[in-house]
Amino acid sequence: MNYRHGYHAGNFADVIKHIALVAILQHLKKKDAAFTVLDSHAGRGRYDLTGEQAGKTGEARNGIARLNGLSGPLPEALATYFSLARQSHAYPGSPLIAAQLLRNQDRLIAIEKHPEEFAVLKEVLMPFRGATVENGDGYARAVKLLPPVSRRGLVLMDPPFESPDEFSALAKALRDGARKFATGIFLAWYPIKSQAEVDGFTGEVLAGDITRALVVDTRITAPEGKLSRAGLLVINPPYGFAATMQDMAKVIGARLGTAVTVQCITGSE
Ligand SMILES: C[S@@+](CC[C@H](N)C(=O)[O-])C[C@H]1O[C@@H](n2cnc3c(N)ncnc32)[C@H](O)[C@@H]1O
Repeated sequence: MNYRHGYHAGNFADVIKHIALVAILQHLKKKDAAFTVLDSHAGRGRYDLTGEQAGKTGEARNGIARLNGLSGPLPEALATYFSLARQSHAYPGSPLIAAQLLRNQDRLIAIEKHPEEFAVLKEVLMPFRGATVENGDGYARAVKLLPPVSRRGLVLMDPPFESPDEFSALAKALRDGARKFATGIFLAWYPIKSQAEVDGFTGEVLAGDITRALVVDTRITAPEGKLSRAGLLVINPPYGFAATMQDMAKVIGARLGTAVTVQCITGSE
């Protein structure tokens, strides 16, 4: 477990993923009924963009930093994301973004395996009454905890892709999870280094009983050896999610240098 998200926090892939997260949570908040967010690979929750790790890769400089000062009429999800991400140099990770958007009735369960990352996560989420943290294996715990008592919600799976079998572990967890929580929204992140590998992954997920899913594909021009393409798989995307992501991409694309495509891979939007 060498992966530390601090090297990548606030990069282009984080920006797109976190905007998608905000868009989904805003959709869930349209109804008063409680929802639950399960974040299986939560990370430490807060990242110092002026720190050593961020400085070493410079990824945030080519990500969130490029959006500094962007204003004007913004799509709602983007405006909310900026209001959370620009509060300080400390960039919020997915569990902190989710925790800040919870209402009294909503819950967050954030799981992180790495003991040091977990210790920080625990501190970061301490002020949030609706949030609980677990130190353990995110896949096993997330599937075990489904369906949530609220029967509404989002499962975010954002593994580190350190091990060669991560795609198949992720596909299995998504299938098992969707079987237990068929109405749940699932958001999974993955790097795209080979289209064949990604096609194999989506094929494996769709072989389960999944009737609606879309993918968001983001490309950026990056130096040799750096990640230049990333994907999000969304199972049971909220109504209007594809349009929200496309609107957002139009606003930030030129600054961030990203090309975003959203494609339905099964069922209708
Ligand atoms: C990509 S980062 C998560 C970033 C976070 N979701 C965000 O958007 O801010 C992946 C995290 O998963 C953790 N991790 C690795 N294996 C894990 C496992 N089996 N279960 C839970 N967490 C794990 C790593 O320590 C790392 O913090």
